[in-house]
Amino acid sequence: MTNSSQPPLVPRILVFDSGVGGLSVAREIQQRLPLNPLVYASDNAFFPYGTKGEAELIARVDLVIGELLRRYPADILVIACNTASTLTLPHLRSRLSLPIVGVVPAIKPAALMSKSGVIGLLATPATVARPYTYELIREYAANCQVISLGSSELVQIAEQKLRGETIDTAAIGRIAQELMSANQAENMDVLVLACTHFPLLKDELAQHLPAHLKLIDSGAAIARRVEFLLADCTEPPEGHKPENIAVFTKATEAADCLAPALTGFGINQQAYLDI
Ligand code: DGL
Repeated sequence: MTNSSQPPLVPRILVFDSGVGGLSVAREIQQRLPLNPLVYASDNAFFPYGTKGEAELIARVDLVIGELLRRYPADILVIACNTASTLTLPHLRSRLSLPIVGVVPAIKPAALMSKSGVIGLLATPATVARPYTYELIREYAANCQVISLGSSELVQIAEQKLRGETIDTAAIGRIAQELMSANQAENMDVLVLACTHFPLLKDELAQHLPAHLKLIDSGAAIARRVEFLLADCTEPPEGHKPENIAVFTKATEAADCLAPALTGFGINQQAYLDI
């Protein structure tokens, strides 16, 4: 067991999501900051977020983040969830003093990258419908046609994949087909994966989508931002090995099944809170 009440010397990064999706962001952060200890937190007790109402989600994220920070003091918080970030960031920032980095749909880079002016947005049903997302489109992609699709099924499939279960590739195919059946979809050249679960299915999605379609997400940009914000902090000592831990808000068999996948992300400990 780690002594979770003592802040470590090297800045500790708390990465938060409803489930395993934030691991796609954690992976990018680890590539840049491999020596910083990582607490990966999954609110599996309240998963999925993409189908929840706004008021209940704000209250839930507030409660869980407060409890996590009490147990695992961190130097920076990454809300590695588009569904939570597009709703709760102003609230969290008004209550907490540590730096908070949120993950929001990569609309701006997609609009800059697109040559055809037709971009896709694949996210949870909640993110697709958020005023924050409309505002991003209005501000950065006003000259583009944006084809949006919300899917909770893909979120579940990503969870299954990381548990080592056989995944329903036919369902991925159907979702890809639905996206491609939209008006002007044949001209779409960039697709924003605006749910952190979806980069975990990038290869599977790509198999069902036109080869010319670029799939992009916010993970690498988030990692750069975290590195920038920690630039003035303590350098890890020579030979330092970070202790990484995954924390779940509920002990479940499904969470136990994630152990092999977590090892692949350099996380060898699991802890369960009851929130
Ligand atoms: N991973 C989350 C996101 O980026 C949401 C998944 C869920 O619906 O819980 O939106």
